[in-house]
Amino acid sequence: MTQRVLTGITTTGTPHLGNYVGAIRPAIEASREPGVESFFFLADYHALIKCDEPSRIERSRLEIAATWLAAGLDTSRVTFYRQSDIVEIPELTWLLTCVASKGLMNRSHAYKAATDANAAAGEDPDAGVTMGLFSYPILMAADILMFNAHRVPVGRDQVQHIEMARDLAQRFNHLFGAGRELFVLPEANIDERVAMLPGLDGRKMSKSYDNTVPLFEGGAKGLREALARVVTDSRAPGEAKEPEGSHLVAIYEAFADDAERTKLRADLRAGLAWGDAKAVVVERIERDIGPMRERYADLIAHPERVEEALLEGARKARAVAAPFLATLREAVGLRRMVAVGAPASSPAVKAKAALPTFKQYREADGKYYFKLAAADGRLLLQSAAFDSGRDAGQWVSRLKTDGVSALAAAPVSRSDGVSAQDVSDALAALAVQ
Ligand code: TRP
Repeated sequence: MTQRVLTGITTTGTPHLGNYVGAIRPAIEASREPGVESFFFLADYHALIKCDEPSRIERSRLEIAATWLAAGLDTSRVTFYRQSDIVEIPELTWLLTCVASKGLMNRSHAYKAATDANAAAGEDPDAGVTMGLFSYPILMAADILMFNAHRVPVGRDQVQHIEMARDLAQRFNHLFGAGRELFVLPEANIDERVAMLPGLDGRKMSKSYDNTVPLFEGGAKGLREALARVVTDSRAPGEAKEPEGSHLVAIYEAFADDAERTKLRADLRAGLAWGDAKAVVVERIERDIGPMRERYADLIAHPERVEEALLEGARKARAVAAPFLATLREAVGLRRMVAVGAPASSPAVKAKAALPTFKQYREADGKYYFKLAAADGRLLLQSAAFDSGRDAGQWVSRLKTDGVSALAAAPVSRSDGVSAQDVSDALAALAVQ
């Protein structure tokens, strides 16, 4: 079976070395593997969440698109498009929003970072938080599920979002699939070697930390000047240097082959000056990036070529998205008017009538317990004993909102003959109520 690989880049900035090494390069490499069908896109709806400067959005879309093309993306093999050209995506976002539990979204890292920062500043927790930011993971889930992607190459910071997409897919399948898997459950793909390219100060290279090395901007000179600012220790030329843990070495190794890596490490241990090591790093990166920079400049000078490539990509993407969305609309009940059965026999009502249940109770030993029974009454989970009813109740509500992700820590045991899948299905059914 072909594997679908999908990834997007938010169009708020100018591409830097971290974007290239962490996202663009591995995605293009993966797209060349046999048996892989790739979908790469500009996440420009996501950009609107973070940026309200229209000219910056416009510029960034062009720069990022030109970067992908200059880096060797073959648009005849890959579906390359703008998120905002696919009208089916916001519609799917809504369908998913209606099954997304708010409790799950409360735990999204992006949202929590904002509320934590507000709390630290003594502000209202939601100060400056838009619904766009809050719902960011749902839009991202729609990007992924729209094309039934199996693998999603992302940085480690995005893994939680992929898990949320899986979770939403599972709930949606359970509620509306009527036994079919409407959505594929996606998996995050992290290249352990390069996922966290360090920036100038050693933290992850990221626009938010202002520690990036530009990919094309400023030419070879810009690259040299940026790399000159990578923080190193203060060992003098001739002194032995430890390559392990050096940010400069980590950046080099994202480009170098094994022989080159071994050599730089040995040279540093033998006393190579940091300044000379930087020259080696610049030269090595320039060897890969230089030829791309020329193609990039040409595309920036001819935006109509980029536009044309993206429109062609949108056409291909929508040929997949439109029929699939029609199936999803049908599944949730947005259907053509025809004679309908009495409400009591509609699947939604049946599903409600046949829900799993949590029961809380107290035993003769004076302790509190709860159990989870399947819709047909079969016992699925049995809790340990609690001293207070409140503790038991808190576990029940955690299991209801967090579903399977709360299970590992929960003091419960599964009944004999009950599979993990039975339990996760039951929790998925409850989480959406
Ligand atoms: N949120 C991602 C980021 O900021 C970008 C993105 C949006 C994405 N939609 C996606 C990545 C879907 C992978 C799949 O890096």
